[in-house]
Amino acid sequence: MYYEPGKTEHGLARDPFKSCVIPRPIGWISTVSVEGVHNLAPFSQFQNLTFDPPYVMFASNQTTRGQRKDTVRNTEQTGQFVWNMATYELREAVNKSAEEVAPEVDEFELAGVTKAPCRLVKPCRVAESPIHFECLYHQTIRLPGNGTMGTVDIVIGRVAAIHIKDDAILPDGRIDVLKIRPIARLGYHDYTSIETVFQMAVPGNDPRRLAGMDGSARF
Ligand SMILES: Cc1cc2nc3c(=O)[nH]c(=O)nc-3n(C[C@H](O)[C@H](O)[C@H](O)COP(=O)(O)O)c2cc1C
Repeated sequence: MYYEPGKTEHGLARDPFKSCVIPRPIGWISTVSVEGVHNLAPFSQFQNLTFDPPYVMFASNQTTRGQRKDTVRNTEQTGQFVWNMATYELREAVNKSAEEVAPEVDEFELAGVTKAPCRLVKPCRVAESPIHFECLYHQTIRLPGNGTMGTVDIVIGRVAAIHIKDDAILPDGRIDVLKIRPIARLGYHDYTSIETVFQMAVPGNDPRRLAGMDGSARF
């Protein structure tokens, strides 16, 4: 089949687009408002943009009433946000924190998770999550979109501090992803979690390229 989004119909019972870019890691983002209310929400339009220094982004559509989401407003007003890793064990809390509620609601309490303080920024970390990034707001890019919710705010932040629980690190220094089981969004209401891992090295053994794949751009 072939279709041109916005121009021709896909003809399927369900829109296929979100099921094509998969799996999408989840940006479980915590912020705090200028009034001091703690906020938490998942964004599957989330990625790292680069690694040295590390930057991440999440893309937030507008609310059902056509307004910027609390996460975006808090980030832009305070200049800070925190990324928490979403795991299979925390899946219900992740889902609960997606409820569209008033800005006065403490969404850590709503989701039933514990606040842990950060070192450099004011938003709290989800204590139950194994990995956290403390992020400093860099920029918002706004893309126009269709309908009430279509316009999207792409929020970019620099990762200023990283917390990894010691029991999530293997003896060889790698993160134990099979133990922590990160979850990711598929299309529709489907999710996956990491249950297998396989390895491949880029052919050619150029040490600079291998270092880049490993996370260092400074070779
Ligand atoms: C797993 C998951 C992924 C989501 N991904 C996005 C996303 O990428 N962008 C978005 O705008 N909303 C996304 N949502 C919906 C938001 O989490 C929801 O609108 C939330 O209420 C926003 O919270 P806030 O208003 O406190 O910022 C997602 C929801 C779930 C459950």
